[in-house]
Amino acid sequence: MCGIVGYIGFREAWPIVIKGLKRLEYRGYDSAGIALIDNNDLNIYKKAGKVKELEDFAEGQNLTGTIGMGHTRWATHGAPSDRNSHPHTSNNGRLSIIHNGIIENYAILKDELEQRGHTFNSDTDTEVLIHLIEEIYKNEKTDLLEAVRLALKEVSGAYAIVVMDQDNPDELIAARKGSPMVIGVGQGEYFIASDATPIIEYTKNVIYLNDNEIAFLKRDELLIKRLDNVVQTPYVQELELKLEMLEKGGYDHFMLKEIYEQPRSIRDCLRGRIYPEEGKVQLSGIKEFVDKLKNIDRIIIVACGTSWHAGLVGEYLIEEYSRIPVEVEYASEFRYRNPIITEKDVVIAISQSGETADTMAAIEMAKEKGATIFGICNVVGASIPRLTHAGVYTHAGPEIGVASTKAFTAQVTVLTLIAFYLAQQKGTITNSKLIELLTELDNIPDKVQIALQSNDLIKSIGEKFKDSRNCLFLGRGSGFPVALEGALKLKEISYIHAEGYPAAEMKHGPIALIDEEMPVVVIATKNSSYEKVISNIQEVKARKGIVIAIVTEGDTEVKKMADYCIEIPDAAEAFLPLLATIPLQLLSYHIAVLRGCNVDQPRNLAKSVTVE
Ligand code: M6R
Repeated sequence: MCGIVGYIGFREAWPIVIKGLKRLEYRGYDSAGIALIDNNDLNIYKKAGKVKELEDFAEGQNLTGTIGMGHTRWATHGAPSDRNSHPHTSNNGRLSIIHNGIIENYAILKDELEQRGHTFNSDTDTEVLIHLIEEIYKNEKTDLLEAVRLALKEVSGAYAIVVMDQDNPDELIAARKGSPMVIGVGQGEYFIASDATPIIEYTKNVIYLNDNEIAFLKRDELLIKRLDNVVQTPYVQELELKLEMLEKGGYDHFMLKEIYEQPRSIRDCLRGRIYPEEGKVQLSGIKEFVDKLKNIDRIIIVACGTSWHAGLVGEYLIEEYSRIPVEVEYASEFRYRNPIITEKDVVIAISQSGETADTMAAIEMAKEKGATIFGICNVVGASIPRLTHAGVYTHAGPEIGVASTKAFTAQVTVLTLIAFYLAQQKGTITNSKLIELLTELDNIPDKVQIALQSNDLIKSIGEKFKDSRNCLFLGRGSGFPVALEGALKLKEISYIHAEGYPAAEMKHGPIALIDEEMPVVVIATKNSSYEKVISNIQEVKARKGIVIAIVTEGDTEVKKMADYCIEIPDAAEAFLPLLATIPLQLLSYHIAVLRGCNVDQPRNLAKSVTVE
C-alpha cells in the first residue's frame, strides 16, 4: 500500500511527481503529499483525500524545485487526515521523509525519542523514523546517507523510503526492505517510484532496488550500498511497459478496459507456451524442475483474495489432470500456523502485484522449511518473482483497477497450463486428449470475446438489482471458486453484501436467507454437475428467490426456471472458469457504476496489500 515517487534532475519536479502519484493512486488514496526543495527551502503540501484534492490545494502556491518527492497513502497508523499525510519532517524542519510500509518497533523508538525531547506532529509510525534519522545525524556528526543507514539498522518492519534534506538540495536518499522500489535512470536525472508506471514516459532504463539496499542519488551520480555498507553494482534493465497500457483508452473505467482486454491478455499468456498440434505445453520458467515435479508428494498453493480464488480453480485442474494432491491456503493463515512442509513439497504462490505481504511471508516460511517455491505473478520484477525458485509470469499487462479481473483469468490460464504440463510430464494424460484440450484452449480467447457480447443484457440485469442489499453466488466444482470470485467482485466495488457458496452447501444454512428479494447468481453451465445445479436452482425458486443463471449457449432447461439467463459459449469443463467469470465481472461493474460507486478505487481498499 502507499505509492511513492521521487525526482532529482533538471526539470521541475512538481509535474513529474503529481503525475506519478496519479499513476500510483491505485496503491492507496486516503491522502497525498509532496515535498519540494527550492533554494534550500523545504516546501510541503499535503492533504487528506485523493491526489486531485492535493493538486487543487496547491494551486497558485510556489511549486518550484528540481528535487521533490510525493506520497499517496493507504492509512495504517493514524487516521486519514492532513496531519497524518506524508511527507513527515524532523523536529528541526530540515529533513523530510515519505514511506511505504510499517515500522513495527515504532512505539519503543517513539518513547525513547520523546525522552530525548522530540515532539511529534502525527500519529504515524513514519514520523518516528525521520526523528530517528535526525537524532543520529545530529549525534554521530555524519552525513545523511550514513545517518539513514544507521537508523534503518534500528528499525524492524517493512519500508520503502525517500529522504530529503533542505540543506543538501542536490541529493536524495532512498532505501527499501519488503516494499517495492524502482529507480529510473535518465541523463542527468533520476526517478524513484513504487513501480515503473510513473517513470516510463521519461526513461526505459530502471534499477529494481533489492531488500536492504540504500541508494544515494545526485543528478549525475548513483551509489547503491547494502545496509551492511557493502557497495553494490547496479543492474540496469530495460522496461517492456508501454505508455498506452496505462491509459483508459476510451473506456470509462480501467476496470471495464481490463475486462475487455481479456481475449488479448489470455492470448498473451498462452503465447509460446502451447503447441496444440503436437499436444505439448512448454513452461520454460519451471522446466529445470521437471524431475522434481514428477516425484512431488503434493502442491500447496498460497495466495490472498482473488489470487486465492484462482488457486482454488488450480486445485481442481491440477488434481484432475496430474493426480497430484493440492492444498490451497490463505497466505495470511498459512504463515501463522506451523504447517507440515518438507523438501518434497512444491509451493505455488500466486499474486498479481507480486508484493502482497502475507504471500511473501508464506513464501519465506515455506522456503525455510525446504520446499521448492514457484511464483505466478503479473508484475515483472516485483518482489515475489525474486523470492521464488522459479515461476511463470501471467503477462496480463498492468492492472490498474483495484478489482482484479484480467489478472484472475490470466492466473487461471497459467494454472491450466501447469495442470496440463504436470499431466504431460507424469503421463497421466494421453497425447490425443492433450491435443484436444490444447486446441480448445487456443480458442478460448475468441470464446471470451463472445462472452463479452452479453454486456448490454448484463447491464439491463444490473439495473434490476442495483438496489439489492444482499446477493448469493452459487457454483459447484470449479464453478464454486468462480462463485466466490463473483461475490468478491460485487462486494468490493458496489458495497453490496455478497457471498459465494458451493451450491450444495446452500441447504446447510444460507437457504434461510432466501426470499423474494434475494438475487441468487448460479453458475449453471453444461458440465458434470449440471443436473445437480438444476436441483439447487429449484430449491431457490421454491423459496421465491430470484435466479440469475450463467448458462451454456442454447440451454433450454435452466431457462425454464431461472428469472434471467446469461449465455456463455460451450467449452470443456476445464475452461469453464475462464468463461463463466466474464459475465460476473460485468455484472459487478454495471451494478457498481449504477450505484455511483468509484469502481476503480473502491473505498478502504488498495491494489497492493503490502502490510499484513
Ligand atoms: O496482488 P495480489 O494478487 O497478491 O493481491 C491479492 C488480493 O489483495 C487481491 O486479489 C484483492 O483481493 C483484489 N482487490 C480483488 O479484486
